[in-house]
Order: sequence, then C-alpha cells, then structure tokens
Amino acid sequence: MFERTFNRSLNRVWGFIEERAGIPKWALRPQPEFTFKPSYWTGAFVVNAFLYQVVSGLLLLLYYQPSTAFTLTSCGQAAGALSTSPAAWCSTYYIINSLPMGSLLLSSHLYGAYAMIFLMLVHFYRQYYLGVYKKPREFSWMVGTLMMMLTLGMGFTGYLLPYTQLSYNATQVGLVLALRLPTVGPLIGPFLLADGTGQGLLSRMFAAHVLLIPLALGALLYAHIALFESHGIAPPATSDPTQRRRWTEKEDKKGVPFWPHIFFYMTKWALLYVGLLLGIAALWPWQLPTYVGDLSAAGVVTEPDWYFLWTFKIVDFTGLTPVAVIGFSTVLILYFLFLPFLDRSPRTHPRDRPIFLFLGNSLLAFFILTTVWGGLTPGIQISPAQVAFRFAPVLALNAIVVALFYLRYQRSYQARLESRERALRLPGVYGATGPAGPTGPAVPVGAAGGLPASRAAPGAGAPGEGG
Ligand code: HEM
Repeated sequence: MFERTFNRSLNRVWGFIEERAGIPKWALRPQPEFTFKPSYWTGAFVVNAFLYQVVSGLLLLLYYQPSTAFTLTSCGQAAGALSTSPAAWCSTYYIINSLPMGSLLLSSHLYGAYAMIFLMLVHFYRQYYLGVYKKPREFSWMVGTLMMMLTLGMGFTGYLLPYTQLSYNATQVGLVLALRLPTVGPLIGPFLLADGTGQGLLSRMFAAHVLLIPLALGALLYAHIALFESHGIAPPATSDPTQRRRWTEKEDKKGVPFWPHIFFYMTKWALLYVGLLLGIAALWPWQLPTYVGDLSAAGVVTEPDWYFLWTFKIVDFTGLTPVAVIGFSTVLILYFLFLPFLDRSPRTHPRDRPIFLFLGNSLLAFFILTTVWGGLTPGIQISPAQVAFRFAPVLALNAIVVALFYLRYQRSYQARLESRERALRLPGVYGATGPAGPTGPAVPVGAAGGLPASRAAPGAGAPGEGG
C-alpha cells in the first residue's frame, strides 16, 4: 500500500519535471539492444572521466594559486610568515595537507586524468581494430584524433601546475620538443614561453589547462557526439563488404530509447567509475614532490607522467636528434589522422585488414615497450643495436601471428564466398540490403538469405562478429 502510494507520487513528481523541462526531447538516438555491453560505450566512459575532471578541477581552482611568488598560505612555515616555496606549490601543499578532503580531491583529479587518458586509448584502439573509422565515420575518427591530442595537451599543461622541480624539468624537455614541431612549433612558441620567466610559463600553462584546451575539447566533443548521432552506433566488425553501416529510422524505432534506458545504463557505469576513483585515491593518496628552486632537489631525475614516457625514451635513443623525434611523432599523427583514407577496403573485421592489424599491433607494442623501458631507465642513453635487439623479436612475432590469422580466415572467407546458400554475399550484421544495393532501403530484419535470425536482426542479441 505504502509502496504503491510512494511510487505513484514519485511518478507524478517525475512526470511534472519531465514535462516542464522537456527532457525526452533532449534524448539522443535509440540504440540496438546488442550494444548494451561496455565495449560499445568506451567513448561514453571517456566522457564520464572528462566530466569528473571538470568538476574536481573547478573545486581545485578555488584553492590553487597559479603564481611563482611567495605567499602567506600555510604550507609548513610559521603562521603569518611568507612561504619559502612558490605559491603554486605552496597552495597545492595546502590543498593536500590542510583542506578537508583536499588530498582526496587532488589525488582523484590526478588519477582521473590517468584514467581518462587510459580510457581514451582503449576507445581509440577499439575503433582502430574494429575499423569503425570507415565510411561514413571518417570525420568522427578525425575529430577524435584531434581530441586525443588535446587530451594529451591537458596532461602536459596540468603537469607543471603543482610547480614541482620534477614537473618543471619534464615540462622544459617537452617544450624543447614541442617548439621543434614543424609549422606548429614556431606558432605556439611565443604563446608557451611568454616572457621567458617561470611565472610567464606557469600563467600560460594554467590558462591552457583550465580554459583554452577544455573549451576546445568541449567544442570538439560536441561535434564528435553530433556525428555519432547522425550515423548511429557502428555495427560490429564484419567481413561483409556490402554491410550497411548506417541505421534507418525504421531500425531506430526498434532500438532501446536513450531516455531513460541508455542514460541510466551510463549513469551506473559513471557511479562505478567515481566510486573506484575515490577508493583508489583514498587508499593511495598522491605524494607531492619538492618545489622548484629547492636546492636539495638538484639531483631530481627528469621524468614525465607515464603517458609521455615513450617520447622521453625515444629522446634517449643515441643518434636520434629532437628533430628526428618530432619527425617521427608528426608521421604518427598524420598516419592516425588520415587513416580512414589509407585503409580503403570496405571490410571492417581485423582478420580482413592484415596490414593495418600489423601496424596497429606494432605501434601498440612500441608504445608499451618504450613506456615501460622509459619508466625503468629514465634518461639512460641506448644504442640503435639495443633498440633493434628489443624490437625485432616483437615485430617478427607480430608478423607471424597476423599472417597465420589472415591465412586461417582467408580460407574460411573463401569457403563462405563459395557457399551456395549465400551465393554472392557474406553474412553482415544487418539483414540483406534491398534491391537498391548497400545504401538502399533495408529488407525487413531477419530476411537475410539463409542467415539465422539472431545474426540478421540488429536487436536480436549480440551478433558475435567483433564488437
Ligand atoms: C576525449 C576523447 C574522446 C571522447 C570524450 C570521445 C567520446 C565519444 C563518444 C561518447 C562516442 C559515442 C560512442 C561511444 O560511447 O563509444 C564516440 C564515438 C566515436 N569515437 Fe570518440 N571520443 C574521444 C576520442 C576519440 C578518439 C581518440 C578517436 C579515434 C581517433 C575516436 C573515434 C570515435 C569514433 C570513430 C566514434 C564512432 C563510434 C560509433 O559510431 O560506434 N574518439 N566517442
């Protein structure tokens, strides 16, 4: 009795809010039921992480002082005396040691940045391996690549803000590299270096970290999600070259509505994320290294955060000049940016894209190896022979595995091609396309020649190919 009255009242209140706020109109596109797995929503996890960074960053902004001058803020000195450390470091010390929950706030902001970068890399590699960047999602991919660079830029600019000797040294190395970027380097140089003082650099990094980059990231995110809305979610990867990769309105109607189902599905993951993050931050709070100018810090090893360790290790390769490092990074960025126009085959499954599978694996192995290597032996020079000794076996193993994988599936691909039942086409995730071909109107779900209904219907369970 009480439950029924309670639910009825709740429904009435919610109905009132929904109607006045027009919430259903804000809703994004419905999605097929088989997308209710985390692997389809890796981008949404990055959005969660980004939102946490914005909220925790705004709270930190209330206490952080972006200044290299001494301050009266309490960071270990006698009451009423000026600090012996710069205000940027001193206010960070204050947040950690004197502000209630300050250590949790700062540690979770820092670990949240790691999580956002990690989740973004997962999202990126998922789209890479499953060929999500292919027509019509080329722009989604390119906008995503720009967002990846901006997210790394957030990490780079945020690293200097506590103004520790460690972060200051690493930022200097990063700046030397960034200033040598072709075309972009000379353009951003005057902006980054300002008047050449520590204060000038800190002010610029601060402005970039709290305003310029988040604004640009927000604008690109808007475009990224608008593109996602326009195409609908990408179907699972397949060998079918005729697979239609856009959903029709009719199919949308059979999908699960965004509001409230998808929204609450995401909320569940968002809450789990925040819980985990706060738990980790509470158990392992971040320790603040010493400040810029502390004479006892003279021997500090110059080391960036983990996501830039690979660049630092490349700088350690003997014979590789900063210009060569920048050249390599530029080629890498251009490769990722224009990938949709390099990999032009219509098939999306990794088994049908051996070259791009090989390149993706090799780059991933390269990043992981140089990151671990950079963390274990920061600043230690290595010869080309040592580099070759470590990478050659990885590349050889990768080539063998990809070749075997390709040959293994090439045979079954041929077999399916030759199958009488599916004479001219391979099973795609959708039912067969209509007489107008791959872009024409869809034949009703489940009507794909000879396909089991669970494979043919977008809403009928996970189709199992990639995804
Ligand atoms: C700050 C970083 C990023 C954020 C916040 C973000 C967010 C999102 C969101 C919310 C989606 C909708 C589907 C989903 O939740 O997975 C999405 C889709 C997509 N993203 Fe990202 N993304 C980011 C970076 C990237 C990067 C680095 C790439 C690749 C270069 C990329 C490529 C794509 C593509 C191709 C789609 C379309 C997926 C589909 O149609 O199923 N994104 N992204």
